[in-house]
Amino acid sequence: MRQVTGRVMPRRVRQCFQQRAWQTAGLLITVLVVLPSVARAQVDSGTAMLAPTPPMGWANWNSLGCDYDDGKIRAIADKMVSSGMRDAGYQYVIIQECIVPFGHRDKDGTLHPDPAKFPHGIPALVAYIHSKGLKAGIYTDVGTKTCAKYEGSFQHEELDARTFAAWGIDLIEEDFCFKPDGFTAEQLYDRMRDAIARTGRPMLFYICNWGHERAWMWAPKVGNVWRSTQDVGEPGRAEWNRILRNFDQNALHASSGGRNHWSDPDMLEVGVPGISDVEGQSVFSLWAISAAPLWAGNDLVSMSAKTQSILTNRELIAVDQDPLGEPGTLVLQEETGFQIWARPLAGKDSPQAVVVFNRTAAQAKVTIRWEDLGIYGDAEVRDLWAHLDLGVLPGGYSSNVPAHSVVVLRVVPDPRQPSR
Ligand code: GAL
Repeated sequence: MRQVTGRVMPRRVRQCFQQRAWQTAGLLITVLVVLPSVARAQVDSGTAMLAPTPPMGWANWNSLGCDYDDGKIRAIADKMVSSGMRDAGYQYVIIQECIVPFGHRDKDGTLHPDPAKFPHGIPALVAYIHSKGLKAGIYTDVGTKTCAKYEGSFQHEELDARTFAAWGIDLIEEDFCFKPDGFTAEQLYDRMRDAIARTGRPMLFYICNWGHERAWMWAPKVGNVWRSTQDVGEPGRAEWNRILRNFDQNALHASSGGRNHWSDPDMLEVGVPGISDVEGQSVFSLWAISAAPLWAGNDLVSMSAKTQSILTNRELIAVDQDPLGEPGTLVLQEETGFQIWARPLAGKDSPQAVVVFNRTAAQAKVTIRWEDLGIYGDAEVRDLWAHLDLGVLPGGYSSNVPAHSVVVLRVVPDPRQPSR
């Protein structure tokens, strides 16, 4: 065969050759450059804008474990409305664990939830949750099994995401038990993130890998929420020391959280047996100053009036949901066991939320100096648990704070700060 070179190529052949070359280059550009960026844009659009502020909701694990069913979840949804929680901002009802017994997939792999727990099917339960103006969350795992050995999503990510979308689900929590060998956590969560995007249904993606593999480094790009810690308690039993551990560990990397991607120290242990009301109030304050997701973890149906009032404190919720989305930082640590945490808030004159936290077992007097907050001059102060304006205070603020308790203040510097 005669070799075709530029020098001897007839004009028509040369034009055709050039056209081919352009087509091939075009194809290559499409495959190598355009398609991946389209795919990325699709992936991003799947979950990207779903959590401009930390998401709020309820999940069953910390109070009920697997001891729940369709009727109980409906009762929780009802209570979210009648307690005022929905109107205070709680949106998601997350059904965790023990959903699809292991092996309950049909030939094509489709999930079949436990018929005893869900006698009307999950779509009917989801429709009920939606009819209350709430959103529905579901739980799965990166492995073939969940922690309680129910069906996980490994190698079924596409189908499961499509199934969840068809059920009307709005949030997917993916746990980290039975992690398959040969994959990083990031690779495993990428699979579900991409599968969610391909469903075309906006579903918030909650990565529950307990902070493993330095989750704060990659999870903000993959999901809307990532767990930064081990579990905060066991079903039906809260522990003060574990709450502190989770708060402290989350705070180490909370600054990697922000708009649409939030670091999660686990559910709120408010109204869960094992801690007092005062401690519950502290938990709520510590989670709010951290810009943490607010997942109520208690049994809403039987909650006390006090628990309800803690969970619906709108002034604290406003701190958590502040549009700046900037998690608080530790500004002062006393050797006595006192801490002062502060978080900048949106608004005129640079307001701050301040948590004064007594970690010790005895009441003590604490003083904040405005200078510690970078305020030089007077400041207007409001107590967010007492719902009380304390007026314009010069220099700082002092109070007796009971053991394990907090004072939460909104502090607005006087705009006429002296020049320094
Ligand atoms: C843990 C997870 C908990 C709960 C539990 C269910 O891994 O951190 O929040 O979901 O699994 O088995």
